[in-house]
Amino acid sequence: MITVAKHAGFCFGVRRATDAVERKLTSADAGKIYTLGKLIHNDGYNAHLRERGVGEISAADIDDIERRVEGGERITVVVRAHGEIKEVLESLKMLDEKYESFELLDCTCPYVKKVRQIAAENSGEGKFFILLGAKEHPEVRGIMSCLNGDGASFASCDELEAWANGKNDENGAPDLGNLQISIAAQTTQNLNEWKKTLKFAKKVYTNPFIFDTICNVTEERQTEAAHLAADSDAVVVIGSRSSSNTQKLYGICKAICPDTYLIENASDLSEIDLSRSENISVTAGASTPLSVIQEVEHTMNEQITENFEEMLDASMKTLNPGDVVVGVITSISQNEIHLDLGAKTTGVIVHEKLTDDPSAKLDELFKVGDEIKAKVIKVSDIEGIAMLDKTRVDSDGNWNAIVEAHEAGEILEGKIVDAVKGGVIANVKSVRIFIPASLTGLPRGASDEDIHALVGTTQKFKVIEIKEERKRALGSIRAVLREERRAKEDAFWAQVEVGQIYEGAVKSLTNYGAFVDLGEGVDGMVHMSELSWRRIRHPSEVVSVGDVIKVFVKGVDKEKKRISLGYKTEESDPWYIFTHKYSLDDVATVKIVSLMQFGAFAEVVPGADGLIHISQITDHKIASPAEVLHVGDEVQAKIVGIDNENRKISLSMRALIEPKDEEPEAAAAPAEEAAPAVFSTDNPEVYADFGIEEAEKAAEAVEEKAEDVKETVEEKVEDIKEAAAEKVEEAKEAVADTVEEVKEAAAEKVEEAKAAAEDIKEAVVEKVKKTRKTAAKKAEEVKEAAADKIEEIKDAVTGSDE
Ligand code: F3S
Repeated sequence: MITVAKHAGFCFGVRRATDAVERKLTSADAGKIYTLGKLIHNDGYNAHLRERGVGEISAADIDDIERRVEGGERITVVVRAHGEIKEVLESLKMLDEKYESFELLDCTCPYVKKVRQIAAENSGEGKFFILLGAKEHPEVRGIMSCLNGDGASFASCDELEAWANGKNDENGAPDLGNLQISIAAQTTQNLNEWKKTLKFAKKVYTNPFIFDTICNVTEERQTEAAHLAADSDAVVVIGSRSSSNTQKLYGICKAICPDTYLIENASDLSEIDLSRSENISVTAGASTPLSVIQEVEHTMNEQITENFEEMLDASMKTLNPGDVVVGVITSISQNEIHLDLGAKTTGVIVHEKLTDDPSAKLDELFKVGDEIKAKVIKVSDIEGIAMLDKTRVDSDGNWNAIVEAHEAGEILEGKIVDAVKGGVIANVKSVRIFIPASLTGLPRGASDEDIHALVGTTQKFKVIEIKEERKRALGSIRAVLREERRAKEDAFWAQVEVGQIYEGAVKSLTNYGAFVDLGEGVDGMVHMSELSWRRIRHPSEVVSVGDVIKVFVKGVDKEKKRISLGYKTEESDPWYIFTHKYSLDDVATVKIVSLMQFGAFAEVVPGADGLIHISQITDHKIASPAEVLHVGDEVQAKIVGIDNENRKISLSMRALIEPKDEEPEAAAAPAEEAAPAVFSTDNPEVYADFGIEEAEKAAEAVEEKAEDVKETVEEKVEDIKEAAAEKVEEAKEAVADTVEEVKEAAAEKVEEAKAAAEDIKEAVVEKVKKTRKTAAKKAEEVKEAAADKIEEIKDAVTGSDE
């Protein structure tokens, strides 16, 4: 329902001014008519005046007007209802008196004139005039120009209060102590603001003269608007946005009814939505012509009729399968939800048409009052029920999101909802994405049980292929796992440094070393020479596959992504053990490990052998160490030499033999001094012994050198073997990756082929159905034709009988 305010539109003062101009326009002696400023705050009406030849001037044009009048031109100048500044008005009056061809049409509203008079009479000696009104408003400027003494104007009570307290005026408030204060208001002032101001003025000024100069037209308009706003769903205020009284009217209504709109004319109605408002009030500012109010009312009535027709159409609308509808949830049960479709039909969506997750709880996914968009799949007009499917709408809408994720290479997360032949189905926002078994991330040859175990789990995957026309997507969990693994590997390589210690399981053994799993998909190798301090022939002598060992990084090649590891430590070095356990001249129990012509090698600590020179085995001459010692014998020996640089130990059994009585001198001599006898030409036997000993030492050195060379050669061979084996490993990995890629591509092709086969099957089935139908129809036609023929023959036979 639309209610138009009784006090809407042109007030008495504005109507008086417009009527005066209209009359003048029809008078023959008007000459050229000008308004001093815009006649009213209504662009439409002002344009209408312009069209009829009425011009607009400002105070600055008055001299020019005078010149033209002097020249004999007939001119009429109209002063609008707001009034004008006293000096300007007096200039115009002077022209009016002076020139017969000039006419002043002073349309200042009588109410405004009254305020101007009050201002003049209540200012001057011993008086101070206060006006509640905005300084820049033409009416206020006109009134204040009439003062005969001091006065001030304020837009609001707060502004007056601040001035009175000396807070906001650069000149400060004058001392009003003995002055008679008079207070009045702009004619269109807001009533409430006026009341508030009076309250303040009475409090701070002694017996102020109060002039209630608010125009009763304004008062009635505002009071009526406030009452209407309180009883309406919406209020439309018509008027210019630059009009003071319209703005005040809008403010009053808006404070009471939030759905208040300010429009200038009927065309602005298209900008506002009144469709949900039943009771609408219309009011208008003092400068709004009646024609504009009537046009607005007419347009609103038309809109309401259209809305009503639309609502009627909606209520009559029948639903059809395939329609997409929006409804509001009215109830939720375990298996279905009901929707208000606003068309005398209840929408029903069963669980599987709401979500692809059978375990989802509907009351956790939805709540009463939610809006849901769904597709109609079946309608029962008799029961007033429409069966709907939300998943189809979701799927359509979400398909684009899946395509975008594919294009952006985004990782998606979805629940695995089904295991099908050859893989699993993931659900993302109701879009089903097929993940082939080979791309599930399960190891090759995973059983059906393993694949079924994925159902119900949430997985991250990437969409690796899209079939736009069939809305099919192929996903890969493996692609995500591969990315994650690479990211971890990259992190590992970014931080790994020589000297870092890791604990890892031995993954495999080769002839040249052991590969250790360092985690994050990175393996390192411990070369055989780094496994033990003693010479070993195979890494299995030290570690086995599966052993968890502590290793440290010996070298890193981040570019080639290779790490060499160390396993043996300084503390496990036999020389370290030996030097920490024994010192020179200590006696040790040693084990004979080999016999040479020049002496016997004996193990002092595991991995550290010493030599007992043949001359240091007994206190008498022997032809071979084997005469006294056997491999495996454990004997006591004195440590008589430690060569740290070359890691060599000299032992002597002879040094521990007590000297015999008959050989006291020899017995008294220290063992190592006794061994190399002093060369003397007088002692050919010693000379001979010395020569033999030197030769034996030389042989020993040669033998040791040969041993070193052999070791070096062996190490070199091992290095070469190791490098070759690494190359083989790399090649294997590259081949494995290629094989995987080929497999992935093959899997995708197989999926495509399956899909194509499925399409062909559907087409063939459709064709067969059609062919059957056509054949059945043909058979029916033949049957009917045959029956007709039989009838004809029968009729012919019967006819001939007759
Ligand atoms: Fe006059 Fe009142 Fe109108 S003062 S111009 S009648 S609003």
